[in-house]
Amino acid sequence: MALYTDEGAKIVLKRGRVIETECDVYRVNCKSWEVNATDKADFNTPMLTASQQVTAQGLISGNGGLAIQGGDGAKVTGKLTTSEDVVAGGKSLMSHIHSGDSGGKTSIPL
Ligand SMILES: [Fe+2]
Repeated sequence: MALYTDEGAKIVLKRGRVIETECDVYRVNCKSWEVNATDKADFNTPMLTASQQVTAQGLISGNGGLAIQGGDGAKVTGKLTTSEDVVAGGKSLMSHIHSGDSGGKTSIPL
């Protein structure tokens, strides 16, 4: 069973309990939208955008880096572990030195 428009948009109810729609813009206008997918939800798109806050109740994983700007910056509650150096205000956590109490310089952190 299927619905087609003269411009090629369609909604097709397929064998195997699959519903497939094809169109240029798929728009949902509502007060609340729930997706209950027991196995997973995939968004196969080059960009996913939320106009406001995003909250995950589980682990957030990223493979392409992380960029944060605006607001109050980033806050971490709990331990933060990195496999490489951390640079704050241009100062390397791993290789910074201090002025010694009696002159000279300290070594980098041991
Ligand atoms: Fe230090």
